[in-house]
Amino acid sequence: MSYEHIITEIRGPVGLIKFNRPKALNALCESLIKELDHALNGYEDNNAIGAIVITGSKEAFAAGADIKEMYDKTYMDVYLSNFITEGWERVSTCRKPVVAAVAGYALGGGCEIAMMCDIILADETAKFGQPEITIGAIPGAGGTQRLVRTIGKAKAMEMCLTGRMMDAEEAEYAGLVSRIVPADQLLDDAIKTAKKIASMSRPISMMAKEAVNRAYETTLSEGLLFERRAFHSLFATDDQKEGMKAFVEKRKPKFTNC
Ligand code: CAA
Repeated sequence: MSYEHIITEIRGPVGLIKFNRPKALNALCESLIKELDHALNGYEDNNAIGAIVITGSKEAFAAGADIKEMYDKTYMDVYLSNFITEGWERVSTCRKPVVAAVAGYALGGGCEIAMMCDIILADETAKFGQPEITIGAIPGAGGTQRLVRTIGKAKAMEMCLTGRMMDAEEAEYAGLVSRIVPADQLLDDAIKTAKKIASMSRPISMMAKEAVNRAYETTLSEGLLFERRAFHSLFATDDQKEGMKAFVEKRKPKFTNC
């Protein structure tokens, strides 16, 4: 499949996806979401890829779902097609870790896709928001739920009710962003972070991701049990043996993803 609205590039063990609709601030039209879905499936199936980076342009990670494509849809159009579901949720179901590198606007669906990623790195220009209320809508790709779980009800409610954007500093302070990186280093840093993740044991990093994500879905006691059992199960892997033996032998581990 050739892509029109995204650019993909493989950098060593990292699969990069760059949103590429410069004239529309990377608004997430249906064909872009289909391309994103396709690219993610490819990276998930590619054994040489250990982590994924999603980014946009200097101006925008993505300014939301494409309003021009959406504004005249009917209730039946959106209900029967389960609009903002197929493809949109693919980022959140990736088993390989995904890093978002955010510059400029990450609004509406753009903020929601960033939140589906596992780590968000931002530069000083990043602006996060759920401005749907200003166009007579509410978030439709998880904004009301993931924002509350990430930054708490007070800020999430204010953002969803007023459309106020958070700058990078506030987003980092609130816990939405893991780190702020100088603009000229954003992508390099995201790739470096993804490469670091990819240098670990593949099955163990997948288990770590699964266990952390479990914290959003379950009670503390069930989450702790899940973590404990995953921890027990990794003793059946070669990489646990190699990792711990290498520590004891004061050398770097050589993981084989087994
Ligand atoms: N959909 C479609 N086109 C968009 C867009 C969007 N979400 N955001 C920007 N664009 C287009 C503009 O229409 C404009 O195109 P034209 O030149 O053809 O008119 C181009 O991108 C540049 O945008 P602006 O001229 O508006 O640029 P600006 O610098 O003045 O403003 C902005 C930037 C504040 C981000 C403004 O574009 C904006 O408010 N965009 C919409 C943000 C928004 O409401 N997002 C939520 C969408 S709904 C959603 O995402 C639902 C969901 O939960 C999935």
